[in-house]
Amino acid sequence: MKGLVLSGGFGTRLRPLTYSQQKQLIPVANKPILFYCIEDLINAGIKKIGVVVGPNKEQVMDAVRSVSWPADIEFIHQDYPGGLAHAVKVSRDFLGDDKFVMYLGDNLLKGGACNYIRDFARSSNAASLLITRVDDPQEYGQALIDEREKIIVKLVEKPKETLSNFTLVGIYGLTPIIFEAIDKIKPSWRNQLEITDALQWLIDNGYRVDYRMVEGWWKDTGKPEDILEANRLVLDELRPENKGKIENSVVKGRVGLGRNSVVKDNSVVEGPAIIGEGCTISNAYIGPFTSIGNCCEIIGTEIENSIVMEGTKIVNAGKIVESLIGKNVVIEKGNSLPRGGRFILGDSSKVKI
Ligand code: G1P
Repeated sequence: MKGLVLSGGFGTRLRPLTYSQQKQLIPVANKPILFYCIEDLINAGIKKIGVVVGPNKEQVMDAVRSVSWPADIEFIHQDYPGGLAHAVKVSRDFLGDDKFVMYLGDNLLKGGACNYIRDFARSSNAASLLITRVDDPQEYGQALIDEREKIIVKLVEKPKETLSNFTLVGIYGLTPIIFEAIDKIKPSWRNQLEITDALQWLIDNGYRVDYRMVEGWWKDTGKPEDILEANRLVLDELRPENKGKIENSVVKGRVGLGRNSVVKDNSVVEGPAIIGEGCTISNAYIGPFTSIGNCCEIIGTEIENSIVMEGTKIVNAGKIVESLIGKNVVIEKGNSLPRGGRFILGDSSKVKI
């Protein structure tokens, strides 16, 4: 069985971060979301993985190649974001005649999808979907299920009127018959080849599409608040590890402190929190559910419930909460006149003061 991880799309709901960074590379607990997906497939025993890349493809390829994975990883180019079924179609050569699991590279699952993937590997069904029950199904693909038969009877992508509270998690067990289904469907109103339409074609043509419910939490990290929530959920399970130095400061709770990092000058770090490599935390408070990337400096500032990406410097900035701060950002309190906030903000920035 093969794995197919999707790492394309424009990530418009995550602008401005996604102007410069592919959304699947945004770090949660200091690790790109995409890496959790690849690890999950590998943990389920999959040895051949295709990563579908689109915008910022060099960035995605560089990031994936920077790790030595215990699996063969190939990259597949998708010229334009033409929908999930389009991504499958362009991966046809890579997938060949094998069963495969398609994993959307912005999805996070507690405990991963191993059990589901192993069950699918053994089953003879045409497809198997991972679903969950949510309160706001309008943002997702929805599934009408037959609980007795354990099959899906109808699927619709983000319908205007709610069909069901069971929604599709972005992980799909598929077999080569899906290619025939994709050839039969037409683009949707948003001009995308929808995987839900292809799956519906299978159901309408007598193929069995079963489902399994998610165990534990699941997060689609499409929006900033989802990323922060995913960060909280992952940090909640963090194993403490100290490879850095603590000088005249207090570190309590579950904290990961990276190599060559120092917490000094009466700082307090309260876990769960992770601080990458080569960071300086001085006279600062790093509160629960905070991830600080490599080579950051946090000085004279309180920060909690936030993600700070690598190379960022925050000096005397007061208290920062629930924030998503990109790479190489500088935030500092100026002393010169006239007093007041001075901002250089890119398109789609959001500042609350
Ligand atoms: C995609 C799928 C949708 C699914 C969701 C899960 O939507 O089209 O059916 O429920 O992923 O994350 P997207 O988040 O890309 O809009």
